[in-house]
Amino acid sequence: MARKRITVIGAGNVGATTAQLLALKELGDIVLVDVVEGMPQGKSLDLAEYCPLAGLDVELFGANDYSATKGSEVVVITAGIARKPGMSRDDLLKTNTEIVKKCSAEIARTSPEAVLIVVSNPLDAMVYVAAQVTKFPKRRILGMAGVLDSARFRCFLAMELGCSVEDVHALVLGGHGDTMVPMVRFANLAGIPITELLPQAKIDAIVARTRNGGAEIVALLKTGSAYYAPAGSVVEMVEAVVKDKKRVLPVAAYCDGEYGVKGLFVGVPALLGAAGVEKVIELKLNPEELAAFQQSAGHVEKLVKGIRL
Ligand code: NAI
Ligand code: 2OP
Repeated sequence: MARKRITVIGAGNVGATTAQLLALKELGDIVLVDVVEGMPQGKSLDLAEYCPLAGLDVELFGANDYSATKGSEVVVITAGIARKPGMSRDDLLKTNTEIVKKCSAEIARTSPEAVLIVVSNPLDAMVYVAAQVTKFPKRRILGMAGVLDSARFRCFLAMELGCSVEDVHALVLGGHGDTMVPMVRFANLAGIPITELLPQAKIDAIVARTRNGGAEIVALLKTGSAYYAPAGSVVEMVEAVVKDKKRVLPVAAYCDGEYGVKGLFVGVPALLGAAGVEKVIELKLNPEELAAFQQSAGHVEKLVKGIRL
């Protein structure tokens, strides 16, 4: 492999879709790892056979061990169980802690210089697990959630406004759970605040739907959770790192006092580039917004305290 190497661990719904979208953007050669024998090999071969049809010059490789992942620039962990109807993300804590722990140890061994993006749930707690195990510098560890939650917020706003999703900008901060904080004050249509375009009751309903966005898909699918929008969100983050784009995206990043939070990974706006989280951007929140953010961070802290490594 001569190009940048991107490893995706967990070749299930999110992992395989991520690999497909990474290939479509030719962001690098892709290694797909899973514990199920033959499955990552089969999916990566299938994707490799798609490349001539789409004119994509990337190599894909599937494996059950980490030898082919060696020296990856970016590693994405999607390994773990997904929730079923009636389950919360927090119900996955114990099982996914063990899985993320194993994967993180392998990554620390094989790709010690990688930027590590965690996707497995409960997201903010799993980023903490990966950080504890790899001991990577904090800026090289981050979690995907805010990009997805913000995309859902943007999608629902665009549906209501009857306009292009491209012109709707919005931000969701806090932990990836029921306490997430869709930032209404910063949401806009081409610069026009949504508070000038929609009645409060409509905004409240969209905020509630955003918070419930993951559960809405789980209730419809019945056998798993969302993967197209999650994979697209991961790829946006990987692209920012691989191309050193300096994108400003909401990600679960290490807070060292920002927003009054210390020692936790939680969703904040961050500058993403080749080094990973190059800066946490601290917005001036009003007292109500800050209280909501800190309540959400408090929930993440409670989850983290329940982790036994
Ligand atoms: P899935 O069940 O389709 O795929 C998970 C894959 O992980 C399976 O193929 C399984 O064999 C593999 N796996 C399990 N243990 C492993 C190990 N030790 N090493 C390597 N692979 C291993 O699940 P899906 O839908 O892909 O979701 C994956 C995770 O991502 C879940 O925890 C889910 O809750 C989370 N998720 C998080 C999102 C976010 O916004 N942060 C969005 C969507 C999903
Ligand atoms: C979601 O929000 C399952 O966390 C995942 O769809």
